[in-house]
Parts: sequence; structure tokens; C-alpha cells
Amino acid sequence: MRLLYRFALPLLGVLTLMAVAVAPLADGLMARWFQHDVEIRSKLIVSSIRDSVARLVDEPAPLQLEALFERIAEDERILAIGLCAADGSLIAGTRIGRNLVACRRKVAGEEGSFRAIELPSGPVLEARLAVETKSQGLTQLAIVHDLSFASARSLSAQLYLMGFIALLGIAAAAVTLLMARLTLRGWLRSVREGIAGGSDSGRQDPQIAPVMGEIRQLLRDLDISRRTTAGIRVDWSPETLRQVVDNELPGAEVIVVSNREPYIHNRDADGSIRLQRPASGLVTALEPIVAACGGTWIAHGNGSADTATVDKQDRLSVPPEAPAYTLRRVWLSPQEEEGYYFGLANEGLWPLCHITFVRPVFRQPDWERYRAVNQKFADAVAAEAQTDAPIVLVQDYHLALVPRMVREQLPNATIITFWHIPWPNAEIFGICPWRKELLDGLLGSSVIGFHTQLHCNNFIETADRFIECHIDREQSMVSARGNSAVVRPYPISIAWPPEPLKRQAPVAECRAEICRRYGLPADVRLAVGVERFDFTKGIPDRFRAVEILLEEHPEWRGRFVMLQIAAPTRSKLPAYQALRVEAESAADKINSRFGRQGYRPLILEMRHFEPDQVYELLRAADLCIVGSLHDGMNLVAKEFVAARDDEQGVLLLSTFAGASRELMEALIVNPFDARTTAETIDTALRMPAAEQEERMRLMRDIVSENNVFYWAGRMLLDASRLRKRNRIISSIDRVAATPPGLRRIA
Ligand code: G6P
Repeated sequence: MRLLYRFALPLLGVLTLMAVAVAPLADGLMARWFQHDVEIRSKLIVSSIRDSVARLVDEPAPLQLEALFERIAEDERILAIGLCAADGSLIAGTRIGRNLVACRRKVAGEEGSFRAIELPSGPVLEARLAVETKSQGLTQLAIVHDLSFASARSLSAQLYLMGFIALLGIAAAAVTLLMARLTLRGWLRSVREGIAGGSDSGRQDPQIAPVMGEIRQLLRDLDISRRTTAGIRVDWSPETLRQVVDNELPGAEVIVVSNREPYIHNRDADGSIRLQRPASGLVTALEPIVAACGGTWIAHGNGSADTATVDKQDRLSVPPEAPAYTLRRVWLSPQEEEGYYFGLANEGLWPLCHITFVRPVFRQPDWERYRAVNQKFADAVAAEAQTDAPIVLVQDYHLALVPRMVREQLPNATIITFWHIPWPNAEIFGICPWRKELLDGLLGSSVIGFHTQLHCNNFIETADRFIECHIDREQSMVSARGNSAVVRPYPISIAWPPEPLKRQAPVAECRAEICRRYGLPADVRLAVGVERFDFTKGIPDRFRAVEILLEEHPEWRGRFVMLQIAAPTRSKLPAYQALRVEAESAADKINSRFGRQGYRPLILEMRHFEPDQVYELLRAADLCIVGSLHDGMNLVAKEFVAARDDEQGVLLLSTFAGASRELMEALIVNPFDARTTAETIDTALRMPAAEQEERMRLMRDIVSENNVFYWAGRMLLDASRLRKRNRIISSIDRVAATPPGLRRIA
């Protein structure tokens, strides 16, 4: 289209101007040609009747002379014929048109004289030719020709000429457009191959080479900024995140969409409204970004006073003490929540993705609710978006279909989806009846993030196995249905320093307080576990390990206590109810086996602990057990490290928690292996202070560096790179409309 405007229309314009300029010249030329023809014709007529005319004048036979003239004038182009005497009088002439014959004294020469005259009835040519007679001497035969036929012919000749020029123009434009398009396509292919790095430089079009060099340099610059941020130590904080938003994504609109909301309003028994902030790493990480650009957070409003605290558009400004962004609540009916949240998300996808051998449940009505609720969230994103290319941060397995649904409504959005739980291998994911739909939904994203490289690999293999897609393993990119998604690991973390730590007493005081609260002796060796009461956390398994420890190492009886915090979660689901029964009976068994007056080796606290209480407990412990059977990351492990500014304490960490990929100085255990776990607890309890310090220092370095602001910052920097890259690709694409070949990442 651009070529049409830029080239074909100007070409047609120039040709039209040429046609208009040339037309009068052609007109004059043709008029001369026609006149010349008529002159020759007049001479012919005169030479053929000259003798007859002379004879009829000399006889004299005027009537026959006039009859001769009438016969000749039957030709429709001859208007009149007259014979003039040398004195200028008319000797004879046709009846009709006789008045057109103007006799003059002046005698035409041998060659005759010709004059074009414009009469009111139209143009005529008057021809005068000499005829020698005996009786009258030199006479002149005047023939008046009608020339209007010449104008008519000249007009149609002009029309033909203009038509021909127009056709010529169109044909020339079409051929040129075709050639230009083919050439451009070739160039673009070279450019694209060059960008993708697949071009054989030897084959590259020499005209493209310099441009290609510039483009490659631009793309290299983008990569350099990536390497710089990855390679140089940056102290990531809310402030650095804000700078990333300001410098790298100026004017960008950020929309977060998650199931859990960052602020919950609940009504207490006395009717007053209480604001609750879920203790969530996700909120800590994402809030500075949304706040920095005054964005919007869309989430399910499920607090008992949530409806009472929003405006007519279901919005409120948060944080309440210093409003910086908008929280938009989405309402779900009990049936929707049942099917979408409890059903598909937590009875289907949660056990499917965590390999803990709890059978996932897939019900068709749950799937339908899940899809409808995802559409509701996606519609809310589209409704809240103020620009056509917002940055949309989609969170977790509750919203797998949202990326594609948003992409359909906002094709230019940069959609970053983070999957907070593990992604299993293709075989396991393949048991889900809606595996294709879920993959397709996620592949509407620009970036799909997981905690570990293993989960990224699993995801790519799953996509490869179940849907039609193109996979670029070098770029870790999956393209399906016109969209390409980069698949990357972004290990989530905690804020550094963590807020609750700022309010903590020294470690010794925390320990003293916990011992006092639970009636423990001052020299107790205390192990802690802090979890939601979830079957993925391996709570009964670690209880079995404690049991084996006390069996095998009787020296710890009376001296070792395990304090397990298990916050109730999703308790209406059968798998969670069964877990609770199992864990409680395991704890009872251990306590009845090894407990005695004033000593319970296992304390199970089945309630929610506020972050400050959790930190106090983590500071009081000798050992923290994170024995997840499978976990995306597990932030408790990182919180324990953050809580120990005294650089003491041992972390026992499941090899199946994503955190074990970073916290390698922890004692790594297989939670399914209770005996080895028991031995590792024993090792931990005997670990010298110096070794504890050495390990803890290294882990603290890792967590302080790779904190949650780094997690969010890397995703934002990748988003900014994609947007810059797309801008370059779009400007290449703007040169000509070409079929989509290049893997364009929105
Ligand atoms: C996991 C999920 C989160 C979820 C959290 C608490 O960490 O990845 O998305 O919010 O559990 O679960 P809940 O069901 O209470 O939101």
C-alpha cells in the first residue's frame, strides 16, 4: 500500500500531466495533417475538372457548368464550389453554399492558395486554384471544404492518446511495483536472516550489508545492556525498580493480574473493617512496579468487606496510607469460585504440576468455570488498559488462559506470565484433558517465566509434544498461532532487607521468648518448619524423619523439639482434610512415643502466623526444615537465611524445592527418604558454629543479591528489550507489507 502511495500515484500524476501538455501539440499536428490532405484533395479535384470547366466557360454553357459543380459538391465534405472571374465576380457556383465563396481580384498562383477560416458553423478550408479560359482569361476555382471532421478526429485521437498513456502508466507502475516488492522482499529476508543470525554472510546482499551492520549493532546493544545487568552487581531495591520503569519503560502502563489481591478488607464480628495484607512474596515484588507507574492491580475480591470498600467501578486506591496505584477487584459467584479456584486450579492443576502423587481431579464443569473466570479477568485487563500496549503481568496457574485472551483484545500488549509452581514433564502434563488449551493460553504471552531452567525445559517439551508450534531452542522461544513467547527462568525471592526483620529483637531475645512461650528449656535444640498446610510441603514426611531421629539417636530425646507452623489453606478440599488427619496423627504418635512430663518433641501449630511472628521463630531456631515434596521455589528457605543476621542456624532443604538450585550451602535432602533426612537432621544439630557461619554467609550473599526486586527487574528489563526489538522489527516491516515470517514478540 505504501509503495502504491509513494510510487504508483506520483507516476500516474506525472503521466497525466504529460498527457495534458502533449494533447494541444498533437491537436495542432493533426490539424495540419488533415488540412494538408484537404489541400491535396482540392488540387486533385481541380486538375480533374480543369479542362471541362474551361470548355464550359468558353462554349459558354453556364447551366452545365453549375451542374458539374453540383455533382462534385455531393461529397459531404465539400460545402461549396464557385468559379470567379479575374475581376472578382462569380461566373458560376453551387446553389447551396454559394455565399461561402468569396471571389477576389487577386489571382492564386500555380500552386493555388489555401486558407483555413473559422465560421460560426465550424472550421472550413477555402482552396483557390487557377483555371485558364479563352473567353474569361485566368479564372479561379474556389472550393470550400468542411474541416469540422478534422476536429472530431483530432478529439478522438487525443482521447486515444491519453488512454494509451494512462494504460502505459498503469502497466509501468504495476511492473515497477512488482519488481520493487520482489526486491524488498529479498532485502527483508536478508535483514531477517541477519537478525536471526542465520544468514550466510557470503550470500548476503551487498546493498543490505551496511544496514545489516547497523541493525546488528542495535541488537547487540540490547544484549550488552542485558549482560551488563546480569554481570554487574546491582543492589536491587524498590528504588532501582522504579528507575528501571522510568528509564527503560518511560510512560509504560503496568497492569498486574492475579487471583490473590494485595489488600483484603474483612469485616470483624463487631462490624468494623480490618485491612489485611497477605504475607506474599508476590505482593512485595510487584507492588513497587505498579506503584512506580501508577498502574492497576486486578485480583479476585474475596474479603468479607471488599465490596463495601470499592467505588462504582470496583476500584480503590492503595496503599491506603499513601495511594500510589489502583486495585480493581473482580467479583466471583460462589459457583465460579468453586469451579475455577477450588476445582480446576486447586484440585486439578495444583496436584498435576506438583509431583506428590495426589491424584488430580478434572471435571468438565470446573473447566468451563475456569475458562469463564479467566475471560472475566482478561476483560477486566482490557477494560482497565488506557493504552494499546500496556505491560501486563499475569500471575500463576489460576490464570493460564488470560495471556491469549488479553492478546486477542490488546495485540500490542507486552504480556509477562509468571508460573509460580513447578511445570512437570510432558508425560505428566499430558494427562490433563485441556493440555492444549492451557498451553495455547499461556503461549499468548510475550515472556513466560518459571523459577528454574528445568521447569522451562519441561514447558518447552510439553509444547513440542502437544501443540503445533515452532521452537527455537537457542533463543528459548516458542511460537504458536502468530505469537512468540520467550521462556525464561526467573527465580523469585524475598525483599532485602525484609520488612519484618527491621522490627525484630536480637536473636538471643527471640530465642528466649520462644522458649518461654512454648515452655522449652534454654538449651533445647529447636527445629522449625513454617508452611501452609499443604500436601506438597511434606509435613508428615518430616514428622517421620523426626521419629526416626529419636529412634536412632536417643541422645536427642528430651533435648530436641520440632515446632511446625501449618497455616490452614484450601481446607474444604478432601486432599487437604486427609493431610491434616495424617499429620495430626503422626504428631500424636511421636509425642506419645517419645514425650514425657513437660516434653513434647513435636509441636504442631495449625494457625496463621503474621510475618513478624514467623521471623521471630526463624531467629530462635537452630535448624529450619524445608522438606517440600515438590515446590516451585519456597520462600521460607530464603526467609530463614534473611532472618539470620547472626549468621548462625542450619537450613535443611528439599532437593525438590526450586530454592535448592540457589541455596547450595544448605543441607540438601530427599524428603521421600525419611531415614537419610533423619541422619541429616542429626548432622545439622551437630554442625560447628564456624561451619554454620560459613554456609549462612554464602547463602545470605545469594539472597541479598538475587532478591525479589532483581526478580521483577529482570522481567521488566526483558520486557523493555522485547519492546525495543519489536520497534526495530516494526520499522523494518513498515518498509513494505510482507507476510509474517519473522518471529515477532509482542
Ligand atoms: C502458592 C501459589 C500462589 C497462591 C499461594 C497461596 O504459593 O503459587 O498463587 O496465592 O500458594 O494459596 P491460596 O490458594 O491461598 O491463594
